[in-house]
Amino acid sequence: MSGGSHTAASQRAMDLAGGLDEPKSYGTSIFDPVLCELAYSWFCPAGGVVLDPFAGGSVRGIVASRLGHPYVGVELSGQQVDENRRQAAEICASEPTTAGDAAGAPAGHVDAIADVTNAEALTPVERRGDVLVKRDDAFTVAGVRGGKARTCRVLAEGATGLVTAGSRSSPQANIVARIAASLGVPCRVHTPSGVLSPELLEAQDAGAEVVQHRAGHNSVIVARAREDAERLGWTSIPFGMECEEAVTQTRRQVVNLPAEAKRLVVPVGSGMSLAGILWGLRDEGRAMPVVGVTVGADPRKRLDRYAPSGWRDMVTLVDSGSDYATPAAPAWHGMTLDPHYEAKCVPHLEADDLLWVVGIRRSETGAAAAERVIVPPVWHEGDSRDIRALVGDVQADLVLSCPPYAHLEVYSDHPADISNMDYPDFLAAYRTIIAETCSLLREDRFAVFVVGEARDRGGYLYGLIPDTVDAFRDAGLRYYNDAVLLTAIGSTPVRAAGMFRNRKLGRVHQNVLVFVKGDARRAAAACDPVRGLAELDAYGGADGA
Ligand SMILES: C[S@@+](CC[C@H](N)C(=O)[O-])C[C@H]1O[C@@H](n2cnc3c(N)ncnc32)[C@H](O)[C@@H]1O
Repeated sequence: MSGGSHTAASQRAMDLAGGLDEPKSYGTSIFDPVLCELAYSWFCPAGGVVLDPFAGGSVRGIVASRLGHPYVGVELSGQQVDENRRQAAEICASEPTTAGDAAGAPAGHVDAIADVTNAEALTPVERRGDVLVKRDDAFTVAGVRGGKARTCRVLAEGATGLVTAGSRSSPQANIVARIAASLGVPCRVHTPSGVLSPELLEAQDAGAEVVQHRAGHNSVIVARAREDAERLGWTSIPFGMECEEAVTQTRRQVVNLPAEAKRLVVPVGSGMSLAGILWGLRDEGRAMPVVGVTVGADPRKRLDRYAPSGWRDMVTLVDSGSDYATPAAPAWHGMTLDPHYEAKCVPHLEADDLLWVVGIRRSETGAAAAERVIVPPVWHEGDSRDIRALVGDVQADLVLSCPPYAHLEVYSDHPADISNMDYPDFLAAYRTIIAETCSLLREDRFAVFVVGEARDRGGYLYGLIPDTVDAFRDAGLRYYNDAVLLTAIGSTPVRAAGMFRNRKLGRVHQNVLVFVKGDARRAAAACDPVRGLAELDAYGGADGA
């Protein structure tokens, strides 16, 4: 594992680490912000509390805060703690969160489009580069966006509960869940079994019950959902928004398409938006060429049912060239397109075309993160052997830390500084700190320690890594992963020749040890899905645009 791609959060931390992190007087190592971000997104539940008994510099705290994790660090050095607090105050105050605004506008993205909240209103058309864009994603209700949201809101009027069906990576589940939540009614979402996508997790966050069925034909899941709605007396929001209301809602939006638009290009999942557009063009008597970019299952059967007769003469269907699950690059002319729909239309656009933006899935907009409460990191000055007294009744969801590697780097001459102790005393204090810290870790949660080795005065390795494993095991945790973090080669090649005379190898890696308190499967289930993972095995197919 070596420092990979990173987000704004770890970029800012890198700038910080390069600049301000630790007053030069300490001259200590800087923790890798990218590794930090990986640890939080792989091993910590969303919004989970991070506990760090050897806080050191501010990197772990600031990255945690940026990603919506409350962070509690303990650090012996009061000067370091003051410095960390100063930096966090500077950065947390100055930086926009790595999150969008609550209405779902993507993070850090300046999209001047005004929200349209009235379902009767026409959504705007604007120009991006040499292309016109129908911004049906400007319509927003209950924190979700687009034509599907509008149709769902109309269908949900007066409902006592909502039931829907969709593939695991479809935006429909989240749309229905959020509209149900805004109406104060329950919601059940039927999907194929498998890893929950960001959309499904957001639907759960909104209070929806996700009912998973052994991955089978959509028709099975659709039937289950319909039966469920009938049994409960709730309103069924059809799979792929397949209903006349969807056609009606989209059809009306065609009237403000500018005359200068050469062709209309639209993503086609279920085909319901395309059907509405074709009716709208028919209503307007406009013979505008239409290009439908298909992103999933064959929409022709549904178009035969919902589109105007002779629709095949009105539209050319072209394949997006990738399966539904594989996302395309969302960034386009300063806006974010849905990676499974509109983004796949970009290669087909020509000058003066009009791109019809049906909507954008909420998890692509950073809206959830915008709602995430940004909690400034907290540092306590003190000896982590007293961590329980220092941090009070913290219930941690992840322990992440980087201890002193024995006396490899001596941080101070403070008597409680374990880097300043000889190894037996170091180990005794180290084990106590690990045990005390893990006693504050919730059940079914992970602990991640970044550790290296150090040599004794005779040049022999202490075995800090196996000692760390033993310490965690004796604290009641189980050893779960061992990864290697490649560190900068730096001056090692220069020193290696001399060291090798005694057959000592130069170390250019650290070990990332992962432990579990309780059950690893439950600990993993508590963590957010990792971006791109769900897509890898989500071959449920498109369920609608
Ligand atoms: C590996 S360092 C941190 C290095 C690196 N800057 C980082 O941010 O990860 C470990 C830190 O542990 C602190 N430390 C040493 N003994 C401690 C103790 N008994 N309780 C709490 N912190 C301690 C040191 O002051 C040092 O800042």
